[in-house]
Amino acid sequence: MMSEAPVLSVRDLEVSFATKRGVARVVRGVSYEVAAGETLAIVGESGSGKSVSTLALTKLIPIPPGRVTGQALLGDDDLVPLSERQLLEYRGTRVGYVFQDPMTSLNPVHTIGRQLTEHTRYHLGLSESQARERAVELLEQVGIPAAESRLDDHPHQFSGGMRQRVVIAIGLACDPDVLIADEATTALDVTTQAQILDLVRRLQRERGMAVVWITHDLGVVAGIADRVLVMYAGEVVEQAGVDTLFDLPRHPYTVGLLESLPVLGDLERRDLTAIPGLPPPPTHLPEGCAFHPRCAFRHDERCATERPPLTEVAPGHSIRSFYAVPEEAARAASTAARLPEPGSDRTTDPEGRDDARSGRT
Ligand SMILES: Nc1ncnc2c1ncn2[C@@H]1O[C@H](COP(=O)(O)OP(=O)(O)OP(=O)(O)O)[C@@H](O)[C@H]1O
Ligand SMILES: [Mg+2]
Repeated sequence: MMSEAPVLSVRDLEVSFATKRGVARVVRGVSYEVAAGETLAIVGESGSGKSVSTLALTKLIPIPPGRVTGQALLGDDDLVPLSERQLLEYRGTRVGYVFQDPMTSLNPVHTIGRQLTEHTRYHLGLSESQARERAVELLEQVGIPAAESRLDDHPHQFSGGMRQRVVIAIGLACDPDVLIADEATTALDVTTQAQILDLVRRLQRERGMAVVWITHDLGVVAGIADRVLVMYAGEVVEQAGVDTLFDLPRHPYTVGLLESLPVLGDLERRDLTAIPGLPPPPTHLPEGCAFHPRCAFRHDERCATERPPLTEVAPGHSIRSFYAVPEEAARAASTAARLPEPGSDRTTDPEGRDDARSGRT
């Protein structure tokens, strides 16, 4: 699989917005590749640029004030220079989206059936009855009971969780080359979440769909990702295979994220929240390493003056830091973050967690 050409290859992506407070540099030099059948998870605190970096691939951001540079290669096609009209051949079809806010992707005045069939009719050339059949199949796949009888309902007749599943069905409707799922299962109960993750994994196996999965939930990352990209202040600060990221994270930010996971008994909410301090606003990024003001491993003046390059610490494992976290501290954070698979009732070893966390306070 590794020798195959990537389905999606993002190179040096930059996104900025002209704002009243100055230029907001929201995505800064982001590069990654996703192969057929592979899942790349993107994690990071609120505001780190996860949504914008993926929306920008098909210019789903206001331009202007937004500006996008770099490359977004879907196969051999670079999407960045394409016109709005040309992008219609990709957006929602070859690049499927599950948007973070389901209400922005569902039109309240149209039936669920219409919203599920318009793309497939236009882009896959299905007849009305074929498109309705496909819509029923998609709704059943995402776990909506009596799907056929729900096609003529409007979004407000669905519960929040069911709307979310409809949005997932729309993302999958045109059999995309790459699915971008932005907090796609965050609002769902664990059982439904596990069902959706199974569905996505099956589509990946059967059709080689590449997936970019954005989430705050490290349990979901452990359950679905092959590789993980950690973003901070618009940059990739660490990139590694999923096991490496959990076993031996080396960037101070990632280590902080794993250490800050809520303690046992709160497994439902494993959000990335509790590193002291706040991320910098994208209009006023600090000099040097963007993370240095919050860094527990900060070494010297260099951190405050020079922007660290993304550097390989092991094959396939890179960090954007002058100093890798020592292995002992990295392993302690890893123990703290040992998570159950989403939907399983395997519990975390309380001793392991307590040991790892006691060093901090
Ligand atoms: N149209 C816009 N104009 C100016 N700034 C914007 C615009 N859209 C997004 N931003 C800024 O870009 C930054 C990144 O936003 P983004 O939505 O990508 O964050 P995120 O990582 O997805 O966060 P969350 O986890 O909360 O979803 C934020 O600081 C946001 O305020
Ligand atoms: Mg977001």
